[in-house]
Amino acid sequence: MYTPYKHEPFTDFTDEKNQQAFTRALETIEKSLGRDYPLVINGEAVTTEDKLVSINPARKEEVIGRVSKATTAHIDQAFQAASIAFESWRYTKPEARAEMLFRAAAIMRRRRHEFSALLVKEAGKPWKEADADTAEAIDFMEYYARQMIELKDGKPINSREGEYNQYVYQPIGVTVSIPPWNFACAIMVGITVAPLVSGNTVLLKPAEPTPVIAAEFVNILHEAGVPKGVVNFVPGDPEAIGDYMVDHPKTSIISFTGSRATGTRIYNRAAVIQENQFHLKRVIIEMGGKDTIVVDSDADLEVAADAVIQSAFGFSGQKCSAGSRVIAHQDVYEELLSIIEERTQRLTVGDPVDFKHYMGPVVNQKAFDKITGYIDIGRREARLVTGGESDDSTGYFIQPTVFADATPDSRIMQEEIFGPVVAFTSAESYEQAIEIANNTEYGLTGAVISRTIEHLEYAKQRFHVGNLYFNRNCTGAIVGYHPFGGFKMSGTDAKAGGPDYLIQHMHPKTVSQML
Ligand code: SER
Repeated sequence: MYTPYKHEPFTDFTDEKNQQAFTRALETIEKSLGRDYPLVINGEAVTTEDKLVSINPARKEEVIGRVSKATTAHIDQAFQAASIAFESWRYTKPEARAEMLFRAAAIMRRRRHEFSALLVKEAGKPWKEADADTAEAIDFMEYYARQMIELKDGKPINSREGEYNQYVYQPIGVTVSIPPWNFACAIMVGITVAPLVSGNTVLLKPAEPTPVIAAEFVNILHEAGVPKGVVNFVPGDPEAIGDYMVDHPKTSIISFTGSRATGTRIYNRAAVIQENQFHLKRVIIEMGGKDTIVVDSDADLEVAADAVIQSAFGFSGQKCSAGSRVIAHQDVYEELLSIIEERTQRLTVGDPVDFKHYMGPVVNQKAFDKITGYIDIGRREARLVTGGESDDSTGYFIQPTVFADATPDSRIMQEEIFGPVVAFTSAESYEQAIEIANNTEYGLTGAVISRTIEHLEYAKQRFHVGNLYFNRNCTGAIVGYHPFGGFKMSGTDAKAGGPDYLIQHMHPKTVSQML
């Protein structure tokens, strides 16, 4: 029997021993920077001339690694390998597949600080955020492995007299997994191991800014005993191979987390039936958010301020769950703003190798330009309360930025910025606040800070988001505790880390036998 699932505890960095251990891990990672990483197709390393160069967003000059780039010919080879491997992997016992994930989780747990330190360098994550990212990756492996064991004999259904009916789950085929860079370990691991443990084979195309951590993870899977061809590692330029992978007639499942533009493109393309394709592709798509924190007139404003700061500025607001809009009741609006102004000014921004910084850089030049562009828009649309400065001379640093008096339909209240920018607006009543909260095309996360039970009940019914949090921040969903996914243009609401997730990677099959 396996112990019941429990999420991986976070590291307490106030403990000096943990600080020292993490510093050592950073030193280890620093020594290994700049290495070359091959593609992995059918368990074989394949090196190409053309490389994806991963850099440290806090120090643009520092190369994290050079990763081979797959061409469409490599993608064809990977599909071939994945299709052949599927014919044995699909019949491998679910318990055996699950055990490989338990082993992989154990390896990552032993090397936990190393993975987190790599996230500090490759993704620009502050220590705590990096630690949570690695913990979540371990959680996905532990949780999905147990889920698969629970599902191995299917679910009970009825049988009539003289009949024996069974309802079982079977794997589907080759999965294309396309993770984002913002949870470069957790989501990358989650959308790779869910299809894998369900008996599918995988082509993993990591996000361009963070391919090195993905390469390290693929090595762990092989070390844990995953047979060759079951997971194929195919980094590359999205323009060169992205559509090709999605369109491929051998693709059975596409699991994507990323931007709305790419997500809707994949959704469309996946619907087109290719020559020699005899199935409908499954798509699991998680896109953006424009997530709101509603602050009621009776709210504890310290709780509200904590929620806003964490949600808006944790990992520089680069989370689809980030709280980028605050709708506060007019009775508390000014007081809340002044608490947040004062707290925001105390946040420090700098190279996240230094534990003291609350925020690191944003991920790359493209993100920097987009976010600073929105700060300019914000200056025209609203009142800048604090922040607004930026500096991309050595790394991509942007100060935490607060705008007040934004109108509900302004661009900074409507469009996903994916950076450390939060806009405030006031509401005349709680009901109006919820109405404004719903006026975006997204529906991922939301929070309500209130002491009124009826108001929380009201939000449960009428605040249309996939993850609704009361009296806390709207980020930081934990696997197995807060299944994660959104409504509306936030995606297919597959609920990663939840009890319904794995079955979306499988065919339910009814078998009825006459006795
Ligand atoms: N699961 C993350 C969070 O809740 C977002 O991807 O913040």
